[in-house]
Amino acid sequence: MNAHLDMDRIPVHVACVMDGNGRWAQKRGLPRTEGHGAGEKALVDTVDGSLDIGIGWLTMFAFSTENWKRPVDEVRYLMRFNSSLLERRRDELHAKGVQIRFAGRRNWRVPRQVMQKMVESEELTRHNRNLVLTMAFNYGGRAELVDAMRAIASEGIPAAKINEHTIKSHLYLPDQPDPDLVIRTSGEYRISNFLLWQAAYSELIFSPVLWPDFRRQHLFEAVAEYQRRERRFGKVKR
Ligand code: IPE
Ligand code: IPE
Ligand code: MG
Repeated sequence: MNAHLDMDRIPVHVACVMDGNGRWAQKRGLPRTEGHGAGEKALVDTVDGSLDIGIGWLTMFAFSTENWKRPVDEVRYLMRFNSSLLERRRDELHAKGVQIRFAGRRNWRVPRQVMQKMVESEELTRHNRNLVLTMAFNYGGRAELVDAMRAIASEGIPAAKINEHTIKSHLYLPDQPDPDLVIRTSGEYRISNFLLWQAAYSELIFSPVLWPDFRRQHLFEAVAEYQRRERRFGKVKR
């Protein structure tokens, strides 16, 4: 099934902007929220595909700090949907050895019950090692950097002592490796405030598939494309 993949060069960390739910629903004459609901299958299949090929870290952009600007009904739906998704899926994810994490602003705007589900899922799965699944929820790359700067300032770290490591170690998940591959679905060619610091040298792949139609074979195709790329990190090939 994934014979075309070089199993020695599977990306360690894949991050995904799950985009196109609204358009998927609108194409079918359904309310946008139905598209979010249909995205659950895509998420589960992407997790299973990642486990299949040995991706160690998977980060999924589920709700951005800018998504609060959407209509209040859609925001309310997304809050409920994401917490009920965790409730529905966390036991099976736990059984698969998936460690669930949360990246985003914890104490700002997210309803307490939703945050509670996140924390419970983190607690339940904290010792799992097959895959770290991070839900970027109430996440913004700029907000993360602001929060990191605030933490650095409040610790009184002198300016001359601040380096890249200081910043990295104050991000939401300091132990997370940078993503090797960032996939964005739905044919949009932008980052939309996702992992601004971490994606400095990520390979970017833009897929035309709308998120609810995304399945593991699309992930495998993206990994195959990743394996055809040459990563240089500013150096020259020798
Ligand atoms: C992505 O799908 C899900 C979230 C941002 C929560 P969209 O809701 O952005 O779908 P489109 O881009 O409008 O089609
Ligand atoms: C990015 O998608 C956020 C998530 C997928 C959660 P958006 O749909 O919010 O991004 P823009 O508005 O098209 O840039
Ligand atoms: Mg969108």
